[in-house]
Amino acid sequence: MLQHILGIEQFDKSYLETLFKHALTMQNLVEKKGGDNRLEHRVSTNLFYEPSTRTSSSFAAAMYRLGGKVISINDVQYSSVAKGESLEDTIRTLEQYSDCIILRHPEIGAAKKAAVTANIPIINAGDGAGDHPTQALLDLFTIQQERGEINGLTITLVGDLKYGRTVHSLALLLNCFNVTLNFVSPSVLSFPKELMKNLKNPVRETDELESVLPETDILYVTRVQKERFTNIAEYEEVQGSYVIDSQTLKSASKKLVILHPLPRVGEIAHEIDHDPRAAYFRQMKNGLYVRMALLDQLINR
Ligand code: NCD
Repeated sequence: MLQHILGIEQFDKSYLETLFKHALTMQNLVEKKGGDNRLEHRVSTNLFYEPSTRTSSSFAAAMYRLGGKVISINDVQYSSVAKGESLEDTIRTLEQYSDCIILRHPEIGAAKKAAVTANIPIINAGDGAGDHPTQALLDLFTIQQERGEINGLTITLVGDLKYGRTVHSLALLLNCFNVTLNFVSPSVLSFPKELMKNLKNPVRETDELESVLPETDILYVTRVQKERFTNIAEYEEVQGSYVIDSQTLKSASKKLVILHPLPRVGEIAHEIDHDPRAAYFRQMKNGLYVRMALLDQLINR
C-alpha cells in the first residue's frame, strides 16, 4: 500500500484496478447514503500555494463524506508562508495537527521534497508544470467508466502540452495500457522531449486537430497555462489556438468522449455542454470518488 501520492511512477496496473474498484464502492456509498464515518476524528490539511476550485473542494468533500474534517490553507499569503516560512517548516507544523497533507505548489518536485520531511501522507495536488497524479487517476477512471475498456483507444491530447501538468501525468499513466496517442498543440507548446522518452505508447504529433479528430475516441482538451508564461505577448499568440464547438464536432465519432481537467477559458464552447459526448462534468464527479478512495487508503492504512 502506498504511503504518499507523489508521482505517476508509483502506479502499476494492479494498483489501478484496486483503486478503481474502491472508487466504485465510494460512488455507490455516496449515491446510497451520502457517505459514512470511516474517517471520523481524522483531519486532512489542504495546503494550496496555487489557485484551485475542483482539486481543493473535491478533496475536502471527500474528507467530509467519510466523516473527517479539513484544515484549509487555500491562500498562503495569509499564513506564515508570507513571513518567509520554508515549505519544510510549514509541513512539519501542519503534520502536528492533521493525518494527511494535500499539497499544491508552483515548484516542480515540491511534493517529493515535502514527503522527505513528513511523517504523515503527502498527496501531490499539482507541482508547477510537473505532475498532477490524482487528476490523472480520475481522468483514467473516467475513461474506463465512459468506454469500458482502455486498451485499443486512440486518445488525443490537445492544447498546452508543454506546461500542462495534467497531460504530463495522464500520458505517463497510459503506459499501463496499449493505446495510440495524438498530441495536438502549437509547436511552441509541444510535449516536452525529456518526458516523451518515458512514454511507451506510439505518439503522433501535429498542430492540426482536424487531421486526427475523426479517428479519436477520447479528446482531452486543456487550457493554455497563462501563469507559466514570462512573456504575456507569447501567451496571447497561442491562446485560442483550438476551440471545440459544435462545428468542430461534426467530423468526430458519435462515441467520442470529451474530457477537460478544467477550468476552461474558451477552449470548449458552452454550446456543447449538453452534447452526450461532453464528459467533463461527469469527470469532475469521478474526482470525488477517486479522492475518497485515496484518502481512505492513505489515512486508514
Ligand atoms: C488543472 C491544474 O491545476 O493543473 N486543474 C485541475 O486541477 N482540475 C488544469 C488547469 O489548471 O488548467
